[in-house]
Amino acid sequence: MAKKILVISGSPVKGGNTDLLVKWFAGGARSKGAKVEIVRAAFLKYGANGCISCRACQKIAKYECVINDEAKPVLAKMAQVDVIVMATPLYFYSSSAQLKLVMDRMFSLYKWDNKAGTMATPLKGKTFALIASAFEDVGLDTLEKSFAITADYSGMKFKSLLVPNAGESGDIKNNSAIRRKAIAFGRNL
Ligand SMILES: Cc1cc2nc3c(=O)[nH]c(=O)nc-3n(C[C@H](O)[C@H](O)[C@H](O)COP(=O)(O)O)c2cc1C
Repeated sequence: MAKKILVISGSPVKGGNTDLLVKWFAGGARSKGAKVEIVRAAFLKYGANGCISCRACQKIAKYECVINDEAKPVLAKMAQVDVIVMATPLYFYSSSAQLKLVMDRMFSLYKWDNKAGTMATPLKGKTFALIASAFEDVGLDTLEKSFAITADYSGMKFKSLLVPNAGESGDIKNNSAIRRKAIAFGRNL
């Protein structure tokens, strides 16, 4: 069966470095038969400013965010695919705020029983991948660590494609070495 890949892309820039990396990645993955869906977090219509810690998701049986907006079905899809990819430019040594608007609402994909000390999640067994670029060669490792820990905590495998020295938005457009790397990352995933 074809592998299902959901890419949540967090750059607000159309045609920028994140867009290019995601396009190349998706091309590589599709060439191997994967079904790839790309969601742009910066252009969804939100009913709240990220996770508002209402914890209503912890009181229902379903793994679902109770906020009814365009992010809700994206979160539901995360529980259904084989591979979740998050793509972001490095913003002050972290991910973009636009990506965090969706990412923090992954809270709804876990059920915690703090008394029993247990956690359950449908994310277990999936692959979690990070695609990130930065102007400089400082800080992508810091960003990567938070994603790697999240994957480990959730029982997901972790993979990353980090592109330092990527310049400003769109600067990697004619960089064939980076393009080849991104395509290969998609093929291998
Ligand atoms: C708000 C903001 C913060 C940034 N912070 C960093 C940073 O901390 N380190 C860095 O190397 N580049 C930083 N950059 C540069 C971007 O990470 C880099 O140009 C990236 O490749 C842009 O991707 P995009 O075209 O998809 O937006 C920042 C850019 C912006 C707009």
